[in-house]
This record gives sequence, C-alpha cells and structure tokens, in this order.
Amino acid sequence: MKQQQVQEHFARQADEYEQLMVKLVPHYLFQHQVIEDLLPQENLEYRVLDLGCGNGILSELVLRKLPRARVVGFDLTEKMLAAYRQKLAGFAERFTLQAGDFRVDPIGGDYDIILAGLTLHHLTWPEREAFYRRLFAALNNGGRFIARDIIIDEDREVRGYHAFLWKKFMRSQGEDPEFWYAKHLEKDHPMTLTNHFSWLKEAGFTKTACHWRLYNFAVTSAEKP
Ligand SMILES: C[S@@+](CC[C@H](N)C(=O)[O-])C[C@H]1O[C@@H](n2cnc3c(N)ncnc32)[C@H](O)[C@@H]1O
Repeated sequence: MKQQQVQEHFARQADEYEQLMVKLVPHYLFQHQVIEDLLPQENLEYRVLDLGCGNGILSELVLRKLPRARVVGFDLTEKMLAAYRQKLAGFAERFTLQAGDFRVDPIGGDYDIILAGLTLHHLTWPEREAFYRRLFAALNNGGRFIARDIIIDEDREVRGYHAFLWKKFMRSQGEDPEFWYAKHLEKDHPMTLTNHFSWLKEAGFTKTACHWRLYNFAVTSAEKP
C-alpha cells in the first residue's frame, strides 16, 4: 500500500479512532496500563518521541504521568495531528507536532523515550531492520524504546489460529472481520518477536523484553545502554 493510501486510511478514522481501535484490537485499553507502567517513575524533564502518534493516545499517558516531560508527536496524517492538537489542547505547551513520513524524514534525536504504537508494521521488513538503527541513534544513553504492535507467530499453524481468534474478537465487537483482515493483509508487514528482538540487538539495544502479548498483539521494550 502506498503512503498516500495509508494516509487516507487513517484520515477516515481520525474522528472516531479510539472507539474503533477498542473494537479492532483485543485489550486495546489494557495495553495502555502496561505501557504507562513501563514509563519511568521519576518526574524528570524527559524528551519523548511518539512515532505514528495518531490522535495522541500514548502521548497523553506520558503527559499525564510525567508532568515535566515534553513530547514530539510525529505522524504522516494531518487529520490525526489535528485530532491530537484538539484532544491534548490542555497540554499544548508541552508537546510539538511534526508531520512527516518516518521512513524518509528526520525523526530528531536526544530522546529519553521513544514510543511506537501500532505503527512500525507499516515498514517492510528490510526498512524495519534499518529503522531500528535510526531509533538507537535517536535515543540518549539509558533511553528506552517502547512499542506495541501487531505481530505474527514464528509457527505457521499458530499464525492461522491467531488470525482465527482475532477475527472472532472483531466479530464479537460487531465489526466485519473479513473487511479488516483484508485491509491488514494489504497494508501491514507484521514481524515475529524473534526478528524484532534480534534486529533490536543488532542495532545495539539491550534488555529486550515482551511485557504483554495476546494472540498477534504485543507490548515490548528495549534499552540503549
Ligand atoms: C494505528 S495508528 C496508531 C496510533 C497510536 N500510536 C496508537 O498506539 O493507537 C497508526 C498511525 O501511524 C501513522 N503512520 C503510518 N505510517 C507512517 C509513517 N511512515 N510515518 C509517520 N506516521 C505513519 C498513521 O498516520 C497513523 O496515525
């Protein structure tokens, strides 16, 4: 799928993004609790990058938990950034928004935390392997990369079972599973956790860990030593 199609796909979702995600992603809201717990406990002046920030749902966790943190919200879709600006207007002095394509545009640097929620699966596998080196370079020493993403199991049969369970979940939420599964196959490049962790380590990351997983969704983190 071309970037313009990705942009159009998300522009259509911007107004009702969270309600839709709750119906498409199993335990979407619970994942936020896991991610919030992975943020530092100390109230320091962290610099945070929220990649593929969408309407700012993960930025909001940071801005609320870490009152001295500053966030850069980075996204391809202007309509998502407009929704972010509106949703987080109360924190306007602590975030900046950057419209861009993280495959080709600079993502900045000197970050203490990088978040990537349901967005890196838009990269092809070779793009993703190379991108982990850019993430590593963009983090300060001791910095943490936190991702939640759609994944695929290492075992083909298990993959099929997870697809079945995911569709069952979407159907139970009143959504058309075949429509959304076809979209997923068209635009996403999910990877195994084995590849995810091995490419992170090759980029220099340590302490790679999976903190939560259900079927084909996972929350992971890694640290720059
Ligand atoms: C499913 S939403 C995720 C929003 C939020 N991070 C979350 O965890 O729910 C994916 C977002 O990634 C953005 N995106 C996809 N490809 C991108 C790219 N190459 N560069 C920047 N943003 C991208 C889309 O515009 C969309 O807003």
